[in-house]
Amino acid sequence: MGNLLEGKVAVITGAASGMGLATAELFVAHGAKVVLADIQEGKGKAAAARLGAAARFEHTDVTAPEQVRALVRTAVAEFGRLDVMFSNAGAAVDLSPVSELTPEGLDRTLALNLHAHVAAHKYAVEQFRAQGTAGSIITTASVAALEAGWNGAAYSMAKAAVLALVRQTALENRGTGIRSNALLPGAVLTSIITTMFRIDPEQETAFLTEVGAAIGGETLIGRAGTPEDIANAALFLASDLSGWITGVGLPVDGGATAATKDGTVSLITEVAGKFHAR
Ligand SMILES: NC(=O)c1ccc[n+]([C@@H]2O[C@H](COP(=O)([O-])OP(=O)(O)OC[C@H]3O[C@@H](n4cnc5c(N)ncnc54)[C@H](O)[C@@H]3O)[C@@H](O)[C@H]2O)c1
Repeated sequence: MGNLLEGKVAVITGAASGMGLATAELFVAHGAKVVLADIQEGKGKAAAARLGAAARFEHTDVTAPEQVRALVRTAVAEFGRLDVMFSNAGAAVDLSPVSELTPEGLDRTLALNLHAHVAAHKYAVEQFRAQGTAGSIITTASVAALEAGWNGAAYSMAKAAVLALVRQTALENRGTGIRSNALLPGAVLTSIITTMFRIDPEQETAFLTEVGAAIGGETLIGRAGTPEDIANAALFLASDLSGWITGVGLPVDGGATAATKDGTVSLITEVAGKFHAR
């Protein structure tokens, strides 16, 4: 398909499904060797087998830092080095509003959606420094980092903290070519939505098709996001094409956060119209 990642070795977490899976497929098509990591062993192994000699599956619970460390070591043992860490695994976990959020619910949400990304940064940077090479870390944040109302409170707080993590990592690695950036997806048609709304997995395809038709108009582009939209952005951030980009969060949301949705200016225009008519 292309050769944007020829010779590069990537780790992708949450690679058994959705954005992580689409990215694994695109990275391999662009010449990368990829270690797919996930807690869904069956799906992850099947995906790696489909991708052939350029892919491995490693069962990894990213909420356990020692497993993230072992994952980086697997990439080095299998493919000799690490160039790209795509820290992508995530889930809504606790959907409570702040008024009902318990310390336990907050902790469980942060374990997956913040601590795991910290571990991915820590051990990827450790490996890049040991190699004496540049490297690209990409984290899947969310438009929930920018606006309330997209997901649970704890999830939104975790995704916002990811933006500070990437800026901090970019700073700490100045002058080395080690880069860290975040992707901020809008609503993308994946299993995370099916799980969040407790839809029977057997009905997932039909459910996501209807969701897509219902929400497409909320974006400026006019359609809902696909895992491939995110994979394309991850490919750019993983490749040398983005070599002068670090410490940023890139919305990949069809323009959903680019324009106000509440029509404030139209309402003011209406009131102004009444005044002009007086
Ligand atoms: N789909 C959306 O609308 C949307 C929007 C914004 C951000 N995101 C983010 O995108 C990322 C990818 O999600 P997706 O939409 O592809 O959903 P998905 O459910 O299809 O994929 C998420 C993957 O993460 C894995 N995972 C969950 N917990 C894990 C753990 N402890 N260790 C290892 N793997 C684990 C799951 O098994 C799954 O394969 C997540 O970080 C999510 O928060 C999704």
